[in-house]
Amino acid sequence: MDYKKLYKEKLTTAEEAVKHIPSDSRVVTGHATGEPTVIVDAMVENYMQYENVEIVHLVAMGNCGYVRPEMKGHLRHNAIFVGAGTREAVNDGRADFTPSFFYQVPKLFRTSLPVDVAIIQVTPPDENGNCSFGVSCDFTKPAADSAKMVIAQVNDQMPYIYGDNFINIKDIDYIVEVSKPLLELKAPVIGDVERAIGENCASLVEDGSTLQLGIGAIPDAVLLFLKDKKDLGIHSEMFSDGIVDLYNSGAINNSKKSLHPGKMIVTFLMGSKKLYDFVHNNEMVELYPVDYVNDPLTIMKNSKMVSINSALQVDLMGQVCAEAIGLKQFSGVGGQVDYVRGTSMSEDGKSIIAMPSTASKGKLSRIVPFLDNGSCVTTSRTDVEYIVTEYGIANLRGKSLKQRAKALINIAHPGFRDELKKEYAERFKEDF
Ligand code: COA
Repeated sequence: MDYKKLYKEKLTTAEEAVKHIPSDSRVVTGHATGEPTVIVDAMVENYMQYENVEIVHLVAMGNCGYVRPEMKGHLRHNAIFVGAGTREAVNDGRADFTPSFFYQVPKLFRTSLPVDVAIIQVTPPDENGNCSFGVSCDFTKPAADSAKMVIAQVNDQMPYIYGDNFINIKDIDYIVEVSKPLLELKAPVIGDVERAIGENCASLVEDGSTLQLGIGAIPDAVLLFLKDKKDLGIHSEMFSDGIVDLYNSGAINNSKKSLHPGKMIVTFLMGSKKLYDFVHNNEMVELYPVDYVNDPLTIMKNSKMVSINSALQVDLMGQVCAEAIGLKQFSGVGGQVDYVRGTSMSEDGKSIIAMPSTASKGKLSRIVPFLDNGSCVTTSRTDVEYIVTEYGIANLRGKSLKQRAKALINIAHPGFRDELKKEYAERFKEDF
């Protein structure tokens, strides 16, 4: 097959490509730093040409014009994870939220939420006509595999990344060429609290562990304290710039991994150009779809798996809310439960939920007697293992409700401990 000829035949402009999207259809777009922004923005600019088109994705980092009030009746967003650009719309009723474990999203696209159109961003084709999905394989490749139509933003600045991370030119319907830097994730601010949490988490990580690190300041702070460890490996939903420094320090070599030894396995990446340069054409880094990487049955095959994720609130039984503040949807379950469960089945695995002891500039305790009214449980009390704050580590596995409450109060902010102890005395009919 002459891929160059095929490629040329499929080339079009963003404005022309989006004319092929039918009304009453479901469109899945790539997300996070892999978002095909030029095509998504072209849909928004031409919104009047659509009736009742649903746009589905997870992490919102682009302009998110599809949630503007005037899109009503034309474009409507269905979020499986809520971000800064979509939060207000979801909580104001202008957009929807659909809960799902991250690893099950591809299955949703094959069953309850069939995909009419997938809009993706990929590298230019290689000598075999294969384009790499680059930084975002996750649900994007499975959505493209099951969609009736695929529109691709081909960007020569997208890093070429290995794994099960390719689509052939023959499986793309319309191609829009761009040359544009990828979206970048701003480096988080790491203060004293995050450092203390990072140090506590790092104390639980043994040499030879395989790590999953969530997004944000806490996972980045943990990395700062892992530089003296040996033979660490990576099997993670995502990673960002901090991993590059840890790799360069020699602490990560993936040599002790029981699954994919020698390789860093991940489903999407978010960071700066430093990360994108590191992963480009790097045979050590492989991306696979999320229904493989985040499947607890895959995760468990990594021995000494350590997962580190964060939370908004934890109640005295150890129920973790990581995605809502009362009825307000803040984010989503993402891969948290995938990793908590996969890690709990891994030989010598440890799952860690790490968070500052307070929120809202110290005004609220995150360790609470009850989750806020209307909030949801992300990680259940039956799944939870370690909870870490800047004040220490609580291992809840195998602990009674009374022992859990005690362990959690001991790592709460001292300013809130008296209140929590009062609750303890009432609940367990004994002084703390
Ligand atoms: N009540 C009221 N406000 C709260 C709160 C609470 N219990 N907990 C946090 N907040 C506020 C914070 O004060 C902060 O607001 P501010 O910036 O104005 O101070 C805001 O909510 C965000 O909290 P923060 O803890 O800083 O969020 P984060 O960016 O570190 O993200 C999670 C933490 C839990 C939301 C995030 O990790 C997440 O979405 N997790 C679920 C998905 C997941 O774990 N995926 C894992 C694989 S990537």
